[in-house]
Amino acid sequence: MKFFIDTANIDEIREAASMGLLDGVTTNPSLVAKEGKNFRELLNEILEIVDGPISAEVVSTDFKGIMKEAKELAAIHKNIVIKIPLIQEGIKAVKALSSEGIKTNVTLCFSASQAILAAKAGATYISPFVGRLDDISHSGMQLIDQIVTIYRNYGFETQVLVASIRHPLHLVEAAEIGADVATIPFGVIKKLFNHPLTKSGLEKFLSDWKTLEE
Ligand code: E4P
Repeated sequence: MKFFIDTANIDEIREAASMGLLDGVTTNPSLVAKEGKNFRELLNEILEIVDGPISAEVVSTDFKGIMKEAKELAAIHKNIVIKIPLIQEGIKAVKALSSEGIKTNVTLCFSASQAILAAKAGATYISPFVGRLDDISHSGMQLIDQIVTIYRNYGFETQVLVASIRHPLHLVEAAEIGADVATIPFGVIKKLFNHPLTKSGLEKFLSDWKTLEE
């Protein structure tokens, strides 16, 4: 399972990369706006830290505009993946970009039917948002299960990138289902390490060791 970090914050990306666990980065317009920096400069900073797929999202909603933005972003670096919303014009652009060998991440996916469209168009990644579905009393993880099954049934090569992760259980359940990638907020990455028995066990080992030194 690949680990991406879901943030545009350079300090978070740097710290997660230093853990040696990071395979890529996903950003979105809201995450970028939070940093208040020029998008291109921010992408260049990220590219220097992480040698893996970096998702950069377009903000156009018409085919021509999406293609223009996508080409400009893709020209920055080979690791840039064009993030495109799951709308009709977006899927049209995914088809065109994939036939040119440009990698895409189809975002804002909330149903299996949408995921089928993305795979048919040749998307590199599909991003179903589990947390936002859970928020409206739909099971996000059930959707992951459905998409993984459907993609396996037909040998679709589109990778399932679990997005909108809110807690460690989302990651564990996605791994059990066999999702290809999880994009994880920094706070959740840190929580993955925690266990009270690890904490208390380590405290006891260290205090016992001290008695030997005394
Ligand atoms: C996906 O790539 C998005 O950036 C992200 O996972 C959305 O998460 P949110 O629902 O916590 O905003």
